Amino acid sequence: MSRAKRVFWTGWATATLLAAPSLAWGQADPLQPTGRWSANQDGQAALPPMGWNSWNAFYSDVDEEKVLASARLIVEKGLAQAGYRYINIDDGWWVRRRQPDGRLVIRTDRFPSAKAGANQQTSFRPLTDRLHAMGLKAGIYSDIGRNSCGQIYTPSFANQPEGTIAEREVGLYGHVDQDIALYFGEWGFDYIKVDGCGIRGLGPDTDHVRKGNYRVLPPLIDMNALDRTDIPAVRALYGQVATALRRNNPDGDYIFSLCLWGSADVRRWGKDLGGVSRTSDDISASWTRMLTNFDSSATRAFYAHPHGWNDPDMLFVGAGDFDANHMTEARSHFALWAMLNAPLLIGYDLRKANAEQLALLGNRAIIALNQDPAGHQAIPAYLSDDVQIFVKTLADGDKAVALFNRTQAPVEAVLTAAHLKMRDDRPISTTDLWSNERGSFTGERKMTLAPHQTIILRVRGERRLANGSYLSETPGDVNPAEDGTVPLADPTIHHAPVPWQSTRGPGDHPQYSGWGGAQPDRAPFGQPLRVAGKMYDTGIGALANSRLEVRNHGRSRFAATVGVDDSALNGARSVVFEVYGDGRLLTRSAPLRRGEAPAAIEADVRGIKLIELVARSDSAIGEAPPIAWSDARLFG
Ligand code: GLA
Repeated sequence: MSRAKRVFWTGWATATLLAAPSLAWGQADPLQPTGRWSANQDGQAALPPMGWNSWNAFYSDVDEEKVLASARLIVEKGLAQAGYRYINIDDGWWVRRRQPDGRLVIRTDRFPSAKAGANQQTSFRPLTDRLHAMGLKAGIYSDIGRNSCGQIYTPSFANQPEGTIAEREVGLYGHVDQDIALYFGEWGFDYIKVDGCGIRGLGPDTDHVRKGNYRVLPPLIDMNALDRTDIPAVRALYGQVATALRRNNPDGDYIFSLCLWGSADVRRWGKDLGGVSRTSDDISASWTRMLTNFDSSATRAFYAHPHGWNDPDMLFVGAGDFDANHMTEARSHFALWAMLNAPLLIGYDLRKANAEQLALLGNRAIIALNQDPAGHQAIPAYLSDDVQIFVKTLADGDKAVALFNRTQAPVEAVLTAAHLKMRDDRPISTTDLWSNERGSFTGERKMTLAPHQTIILRVRGERRLANGSYLSETPGDVNPAEDGTVPLADPTIHHAPVPWQSTRGPGDHPQYSGWGGAQPDRAPFGQPLRVAGKMYDTGIGALANSRLEVRNHGRSRFAATVGVDDSALNGARSVVFEVYGDGRLLTRSAPLRRGEAPAAIEADVRGIKLIELVARSDSAIGEAPPIAWSDARLFG
């Protein structure tokens, strides 16, 4: 979207009559309640996918024996029983697109069982049959453009596609229906990761195009300039894949993984199309790069739901800073991914794994947090650059809390009942998930975190809100269908050196869109929630001109204290807060401006399945003031 194309909202009363063409695709007024949960519900990612992927372990040097060896160990070592099921082949499996019919050809020197006959006829069916017979699922890799990431960005890549320009066009572009039918209908895959390099790196002035290596494809993505990214076009291409997947999987047994590294404002729309969506560029086996990837998902809890998880990339447990000599770091990496509801995809050659590493990957108590059926990503309860506290609401009423030391020195941390939204005058019982040690505290507990350590506790106590929950405790039930943002890159993500560049060039710029999105317990740009001078430690901070869909699991009342947040720059804009139940208006506030006392609103939501919280303002797109749904809660 071009920020030059500004649309002015002429007032809350008439706002519904206005079309806002740039805000959302295929919807005239994105603030108009629909009574429908709009985030993706298709496929098999009701829980974050677990499994193994070839990339971090072998890069493109992948073959059948390596894949099967890991699959066998996943079964033999009990990891399949612990939940790891998807065995995913990443880049490096293809040799060409056969001409003239365009059927993809597998590299049979690497995957001997794929050899199926004359005329380069190959099939992955024998391999997927074997994996299925082992009780596992199988995953494949492609690109949304004509060419893959390895072809465009990795000159030293093993197993590059071969042949003419057309034969080397192995990506989905122009072949979506044909390839998806082949992968899912004929070859029997259950999972696909779709990368985006082919629509990014083949502009007319690139080396590859000038040298005639590949055909030009005017880039749709500019990683460093969201205004130069054709967001609707990128979304439309991925939408075609989603449609083809539905058509070719009538039983719904598939997972669609979007790999756009947080570009193209995918945070806003990836959750509507796929089961998982990458939030950042590639992880490496480095502590600080892990921090970068973690940060790109950590403040996006409202953008993750069952069937649409944030993906900070695959695990690097086993290698580099997370190898057998760095088990503190390996444990932190694993536990943090579990808390974020990230896919748990092992990226290690399991033939090299020792007992301690296998025990970590198979840690049932930690896996249970990731696979908790309620599907709430952990939310930040305390943030600093050094130590952080994340809290995750679990289906049985317990909470999990991770206290994370990002630094190389020991730090003291204090966990408070307030972090947990539990009463500070009643005991809170704790189980340390590493040692299984049990304990209890009232009010607060001091802990010392070793360098890079993550203490992870499962806790039970009396909730501050006895007969319900705050919406910020249950982010998996809240979907910012429209969040009022313009695509801005988030500047708060850790800037590690990009591993494949070292310190060449000027360094990492903010590039992962999402700045200004809806936040649990904070204003949208990270300030405290505060209305007319009063602070709230609980609630949803968002921009005005937003519509949040909220699932109601049988509660009878909704209440919140609403107002324009004190962090708003423009005090003149007014905002009206509306609550809808299954598409019907339940209550509406008077217009409120910054500095005006907040309004208490309450609605009877008995029997209502979907609540929509709409904040309408008379401001221009891109100038909507931060607003607060303080203490937003469902109870009774
Ligand atoms: C991109 C992806 C990686 C991996 C490689 C394969 O970089 O982000 O996860 O799939 O491509 O070439």
